[in-house]
Amino acid sequence: MKEWDSFDKITKAKGMWLIDSKGNKMMDAVASMWCNVWGHSNPQLIKAITEQSKKLQHSSQFNLTNEPAEKLADSLVKMSPGMHRVFYSDNGSSAMEIAIKTALQYWKNIGDKKKTEVATVENGYHGDTFGAMSVGYVPEFFGKFKKQLFATIQFPVPNKYRMPKGFTITDYQNHCLDKIEKRFAEKDNIAVFVMESGAQVAGGVIIYPKGFQKKISEMCKKYNVLFVLDEIATGFGRLGSMTQYEEQKSIPDIVAYGKMLTGGYLTMAATLTNRKVYESFLGEFNDWRHLFHGHTYTGNPIASAVANENLKMYRKNNLIRKIQKTSKIFERFYDEISDIGIVGDIRHKGMLMGIEMVKDKQGKIPISPKKSINKIFFEEGKKNGIYLRTLGNIVMIVPPLAISESELEWLLNRTVTTIKNAESKVI
Ligand SMILES: Cc1ncc(COP(=O)(O)O)c(C=O)c1O
Repeated sequence: MKEWDSFDKITKAKGMWLIDSKGNKMMDAVASMWCNVWGHSNPQLIKAITEQSKKLQHSSQFNLTNEPAEKLADSLVKMSPGMHRVFYSDNGSSAMEIAIKTALQYWKNIGDKKKTEVATVENGYHGDTFGAMSVGYVPEFFGKFKKQLFATIQFPVPNKYRMPKGFTITDYQNHCLDKIEKRFAEKDNIAVFVMESGAQVAGGVIIYPKGFQKKISEMCKKYNVLFVLDEIATGFGRLGSMTQYEEQKSIPDIVAYGKMLTGGYLTMAATLTNRKVYESFLGEFNDWRHLFHGHTYTGNPIASAVANENLKMYRKNNLIRKIQKTSKIFERFYDEISDIGIVGDIRHKGMLMGIEMVKDKQGKIPISPKKSINKIFFEEGKKNGIYLRTLGNIVMIVPPLAISESELEWLLNRTVTTIKNAESKVI
C-alpha cells in the first residue's frame, strides 16, 4: 500500500474515457473492473435509472417483490437454458456464497447426509468473502487466511503455457479429468463442483481447452454431484457468448451472474437455479427447508431497472455478434505483442486478453521487480492515455464490451507502447 500514496480522482466519464479532476483522459481498459458494457454516461441507462428512481428507490424483498426485479428475473431465466428461479444479491462474491449455500443445503433438503464436500479447480477466483475465498483459492490473495477457510477438494486445470513437462495439452486435459473422475468414483460424498465458466480470469486468464468444462458437467451428472458455474466475469458476452455454459455445452444446476448485469452502472448480482434445486427448498414451514440468506439491497428496483434496459440494449444492438466481430482486432496484434522481450504468452477470448510477462521466454520465469508490477504498468499506461491494470505478472485487457473497432485498435497500440516502455523497469 505504501507506494499508493496518492490517487487520481475520477470526476466524470464518457464513452470509453475516464476523466480526472485535472481534466486528463484515460481509456478504460479495465471496463471499471470488468463490468462496463456500453461505455460511460450512456443516456439510455441513465434514463432507466432516473425514471425508476422517481418511482421506487428501494423496497425489501423480504415478503415483498417489485416490478423491475420480477421483470429481470423473467428475462434472466429466459436467457439461461435449464434455469428456473433467481436469487438476487448485490455483488458477485455474495452471489457465489448463495450458490454454495444453496448447493450444500440441497442435499440436506432431500435428506442426503453424506454429500458435504465441495470440489473445485485450482487457481479459481469467486470473490473475497470467506466462502468465496475457500472455493476460489488463489494462494497469493488468500494465503494469510488459509487457516480460517473451509477445506475443498481441488483439481488441476489444464493451462497450456504452464503444464508439467512431457504432456500435450490433450494428454494433460485428460490427466486432469481422470483425477476428477477417480475421486468422484472413489467416494460418494461430493455435494458440489464449483468452477468459473469458460475461463479463469483473476487466476491468470486461463482459457479452458475445448471439452474440459463439458466433460466435468457430464461427470457431475454421472456421479450425482451438483454443478455450479460462475459466469460473473465470463458471461454476458465477455468471452463472446451470452452464457459460456451454453457455448461449452455444460448446463449447470446453479449459475451466478454479476458485473455486466447492470451494464456496469449499479451493483447487482444474481444466482439462478434449475427446477430440481429450487423445488427441494419447497416444504411446510416446519420442514425448515428455506434458505436463510438475504441482503438489504436484494432485488433493488433501480439496479433491476438499469439491468432490464441493459438486456434490452443487448438484444436491440445484437451486442454478442458485434463482440464476436470486434474481438478479431485482438488477433491482429498477436505477433506484435509476442515479439516484445518480456512477453511469454498471450491468452485471448472474446473481449478478454491476458499477456503473461516473463524474465526469459525460454525458462518462463515470471518477472519480479522491486516495485509492484501493477504500479509500474498503471503509471506507464497513464502516460499513454490508458487505465491499465495487471494481475500478478499478467497485463489484463478487459475493455467495455461495446468498444468500437477503431477504439480497440487504438487501445492495443497504446498497450504495446506501454509494455515496451515498462520493459526496462520490470526486469
Ligand atoms: C469469476 C468471479 N467471480 C466472482 C467475483 C466477485 O465479484 P464481486 O467483486 O462483485 O464481489 C469476481 C470478481 O472479479 C470474479 O471475477
